[in-house]
Amino acid sequence: MHIFHSIADLRSYLRLQRQQGKSVGFVPTMGALHEGHLSLLEASKVQNDVTICSIFVNPIQFNNPDDLARYPRTLDADCAMLAPAGCDAVFAPSAEEMYGKATASDGFEPSDAVALPLLKFDFGDLERVMEGQFRPGHFNGVGIVVSKLFNIVQPDRTYFGQKDLQQLAVIRRMMIDLGFQIALHPCPTLREADGLAMSSRNRNLTPKERALAPHIFKGLMLAKRGLISGKTTTEVKLEVAAHFNEQPAFRLEYFEIVDAHSLQTTELRLPEAQTALCIAAHLGKVRLIDNVVF
Ligand code: PAJ
Repeated sequence: MHIFHSIADLRSYLRLQRQQGKSVGFVPTMGALHEGHLSLLEASKVQNDVTICSIFVNPIQFNNPDDLARYPRTLDADCAMLAPAGCDAVFAPSAEEMYGKATASDGFEPSDAVALPLLKFDFGDLERVMEGQFRPGHFNGVGIVVSKLFNIVQPDRTYFGQKDLQQLAVIRRMMIDLGFQIALHPCPTLREADGLAMSSRNRNLTPKERALAPHIFKGLMLAKRGLISGKTTTEVKLEVAAHFNEQPAFRLEYFEIVDAHSLQTTELRLPEAQTALCIAAHLGKVRLIDNVVF
């Protein structure tokens, strides 16, 4: 497995692959890999001759500096997982490689570590809800890094997890708006045996918190059962609020019942539309998100 830190090196490698007529699959990540990430890699390996995985903790998508500082960085362990899983190349750039050096002549302050992009993405209604509402600037940072990575890798196909449902919707729309000729493949959420959605942030949970964490998925299942049995969205929302009140270790940030593509609030409308139940909750210092789509 190749490990590239520079854009130029990755590009030369990719040029060679394309000259040989090989198709390229791309899995963008922020590292601290788990089986959920590996399932994206597996999906790519089935459909492409070459699979590239990027590992980059993108500073501009973190609205909370503590969250950025605490985000696990485990490149060696990540590569040790990716190589046996059949990843062909890892792209692990520094922030400076991705965003360029901040120079005074370009108007940056001496304290600026990297040249932050001036460009701003606004995803309209897609980012006024849920994650966008509670993490201002987050999807701008995601949009910039993903479009930049797409331009660098120029894959045939790319793989994103439904675990981050709003991110998937934002990227889907960005690819339409900017005309990226890349096929977007959504992949199902992988869970631990007790229902907790796999996440790089799970490793920041204390053992006690980890034992409590499946409460989130149980809340989603409770809501799903309620909707299927004919309860209104208002009734179901009250039930979920009560479910979290029972467990004071959690602070429920939002629970929304939305259309899976538009992300706008909806009543259950099956089978013609996909309804998504989306949740974000704080457990100790860790913020966890999850969703189910049906
Ligand atoms: P990260 O959180 O590392 O996730 C990388 C990819 O793995 C995303 O597409 C995410 O939805 C998927 N993923 C995470 N947990 C999963 C699970 N339990 N099951 C299936 N897929 C899962 O998402 C990001 O990084 C970043 O925002 C990124 C897109 C890389 C841009 O910086």
